[in-house]
Amino acid sequence: MGKEGKTDLSSRDDLMGKIVALCKRRGFIFQSSEIYGGINGFWDYGPLGVELKRNLKNIWWEDVVRKRDDIVGLDAAIIMNPKVWEASGHVGGFSDPMVDCNKCKARFRADRIFTVIGRVGDDVIVSAGVEADSDLSARDKVLIEANSKTRHKIDHYRDQIKWVMFSADKVPPNEKALCPLCEGELTEARKFNLMFKTSIGAMEDSSSVAYLRPETAQGIFCNYKNVLDTSRVRPPFGIAQIGKAFRNEINPRNFTFRSREFEQMEIEFFCHESDADKWYEYWRDARYKWYIDLGLTSSRLRLRDHEKEELAHYAASCADIEYDFPFGISELEGVANRTDYDLKKHQEHSGKDMTYFDDQTKERYIPYVIEPSGGVDRAVLAFICEAYTEDEAPNDKGKMQKRVLMKFHPRLAPIKVAVFPLVKKEGMPEAARKIYDDVLASGLTCFYDEKGAIGRRYRRQDEAGTPFCVTVDGQTFEDQTVTIRDRDSLKQDRIAADKVVEYVRERIG
Ligand code: GAP
Repeated sequence: MGKEGKTDLSSRDDLMGKIVALCKRRGFIFQSSEIYGGINGFWDYGPLGVELKRNLKNIWWEDVVRKRDDIVGLDAAIIMNPKVWEASGHVGGFSDPMVDCNKCKARFRADRIFTVIGRVGDDVIVSAGVEADSDLSARDKVLIEANSKTRHKIDHYRDQIKWVMFSADKVPPNEKALCPLCEGELTEARKFNLMFKTSIGAMEDSSSVAYLRPETAQGIFCNYKNVLDTSRVRPPFGIAQIGKAFRNEINPRNFTFRSREFEQMEIEFFCHESDADKWYEYWRDARYKWYIDLGLTSSRLRLRDHEKEELAHYAASCADIEYDFPFGISELEGVANRTDYDLKKHQEHSGKDMTYFDDQTKERYIPYVIEPSGGVDRAVLAFICEAYTEDEAPNDKGKMQKRVLMKFHPRLAPIKVAVFPLVKKEGMPEAARKIYDDVLASGLTCFYDEKGAIGRRYRRQDEAGTPFCVTVDGQTFEDQTVTIRDRDSLKQDRIAADKVVEYVRERIG
């Protein structure tokens, strides 16, 4: 890949930079503990971000719990008996291979670092360490990043170069893995458990060790019998949960995409083995459609079935719902047929019976589990990336000007309506305040602004993703109407001042 690839890569990097800057500038997402220099892998949601995130979680909860009679909710504790994590396999196996740079001491996930070496005979023409990028092969990345002297050599020897490429967790004999930052040598790969440890009680010894949960799923498996015993649901049925999960990721990256503290929204759907394939397909397709219905265009969204070799040892099938972020195509949610693996493991380790007895068929069995497991923060980030738009719109003087807008689906938008008086006099602020109070009382999120030129106020709301802006003007006092402006089309309707809530509700859906 030549110049074209470089331009493309940098413009996408630039886009991510603009999105991160907007998130901070407008109060969507801040770095955690920023006044102390931040802390890698942790993020805070500001006033707009928290509304966006809450809307997303509420819509998920409405759609998968409240509107269905076969799924119930749960809110389990973050810290569980450590035996849970032994049974689930997390204590023994929840690890990533890790390498350190001997020179600059940076630490990486070994399977994401590639070393590329191009030789002519014994001469090394180019050697570099690069971080994996879902858009570009490691070799393309080396070519793009090569300085002019190296580039010249590569071009000169083009047909004679023998390329060797390997990841830092699979280094061939007689080769050395290189650091992508300083080209120093990397250590051999070591396993690194991703669970955060803590201790319970006053004593800190091996008996007090506990873990912050790395997934919400195990809280559901451990309560599956409690739910069966206390509610009316019977297989096929699901238990849904939204909650924090913690993973000591080696390389938190791509803004909130890979964080150390994040939220999951998970369903464990329990069914008979003979129905598992049917439910798996149902959930895979339903969850994919859910994102599209909320505004992720299908051209950026992808449903990818895992190859047999990619499947976790307990999964019979698995698909990833992926989104084309500015930094590459990456997973938003996984849908897996986890078989009866987890319940069987908990039965084995706890000694408690995990079977279900079907009164109708007189069959006793351990249900199979279909798991749609999504990341709240990743979904929020995808909706933010999708919403970010630059276009041109006329300013107060009718001149076209660049504007940035966040085209959130109205259901997701943090603020649904903004209300402005055209000018800060002639009774307009009072009339606008009255509409503002009515909208707030209706339960819609609303923002009142009377400061600055009206065009500037519109722009501010465009950046916040507010789908409707209501303006009180001179005509309001003649015929009790206001203008209502659509964020995306810029079209202004004139409607009765007391019909604002009705108008907005109809369009939010
Ligand atoms: N119970 C299954 C499970 O936890 P996973 O693929 O490891 O499966 C599910 O995680 C989802 O959680 C992912 O699709 C992703 O959206 C989110 N997730 C996982 N690790 C994350 C991280 N470090 N930061 C943000 N989200 C993460």
